[in-house]
Amino acid sequence: MPDGAPWHYLDTAATAQKPQAVIDAMTHALGRDYATVHRGVYSRSAQMTLAYEAARKRVADFIGAKSENEVVFVRGATEAINLVAQTWGVTQIGPGDRIVLSTLEHHSNIVPWQMLAERTGAQIDVCPLTEDHRIDLGALEALLTPRTRLVALAHVSNVLGSVLDARVAADLAHSVGAKLLLDGCQAAPRMVLDMAALDCDFYAFSGHKLYGPTGVGVLWAREEILDAMPPWQGGGSMIERVTFEKTTYAPPPQRFEAGTPMITEVIALQAAIDYVDALGPEALFAHEAALATTLRGELRNLNSVTLFGPEDSAGIVSFALQGVHPHDLGTILDEENVAIRAGHHCAQPLMDHLSVPATARASFGLYSDESDIAALLRGIERTQRIFG
Ligand SMILES: Cc1ncc(COP(=O)(O)O)c(C=O)c1O
Repeated sequence: MPDGAPWHYLDTAATAQKPQAVIDAMTHALGRDYATVHRGVYSRSAQMTLAYEAARKRVADFIGAKSENEVVFVRGATEAINLVAQTWGVTQIGPGDRIVLSTLEHHSNIVPWQMLAERTGAQIDVCPLTEDHRIDLGALEALLTPRTRLVALAHVSNVLGSVLDARVAADLAHSVGAKLLLDGCQAAPRMVLDMAALDCDFYAFSGHKLYGPTGVGVLWAREEILDAMPPWQGGGSMIERVTFEKTTYAPPPQRFEAGTPMITEVIALQAAIDYVDALGPEALFAHEAALATTLRGELRNLNSVTLFGPEDSAGIVSFALQGVHPHDLGTILDEENVAIRAGHHCAQPLMDHLSVPATARASFGLYSDESDIAALLRGIERTQRIFG
């Protein structure tokens, strides 16, 4: 805080605070190293192109991709999912085909599919949750039909912290010939990612939740799937040859990166990945899951708290305080320098399922510790006193 008071940031699931290494990488890329990529013949541009493509290779290694050609830079997870819907979806999904989503999805993994369904005449099926708020894989199996073309699920829920058994979901989807898209927004900052082990077909995440900058994200897809996908935005960089008679397109990933890309953001994303990788995603998961378990235990000891989500939540805890709207709680906590998220978390169908208009959500990051939990609990007790 500007006045030097400690700030307890419990909103990492919305966006992560940045390590100095990321800020430095961005500053250098915007300053002393700045130049365009893929175009200039001068040496600084050539250097920047090398750095930009090295970042792509770094992402590929970080997520266990077979090749950097499977890594498409996009603005974020939202754009990644829209890209899949508007290219793969438009060509592969037709009237009567089915798309399976789950009750706990973020709007980013609902609305693009609804738009696609409206355009193509496809149907959306919704996979329910278990009692402890996980995606019910038994129910998923029962929902699948030979017409199911896509299953699109959150790897980790942004509201509940529930972790999907992605491998089982992949096996189920593939058993009926469907593709599996994983929304990895909340998994990328806290789990080991290995595309081969997950066996999914598409994976989407945002840089800003992974300690990198806003304005950059990643779409990963199997090379053969990307190869067969038509471009979605036209412009510079995504072409092989342009004439007024006919334009031919570059191979992936360039085919999906029209225009001057987010050069500095990509460089800073690599710095973020270096930072997270050095700490170790397993250690980050364990650190945040332990904090979540402690917080859940403390909240359970308080009167009038309803907890949502499974016991083994991945660093994200949603709850409701009886008689207090989450926005009021969030406002009072802010007076104590505690930042939580209050609202529907872009998951209104999940709120309907939980029968609440909103929840309070505390989400941890690599910098979180027990003092954040203590400050949150002090703030909750004060709120309870205020509300009698
Ligand atoms: C699970 C999940 N999916 C998708 C998104 C959308 O990410 P972005 O807004 O960075 O595109 C978020 C962001 O909150 C999320 O938590």
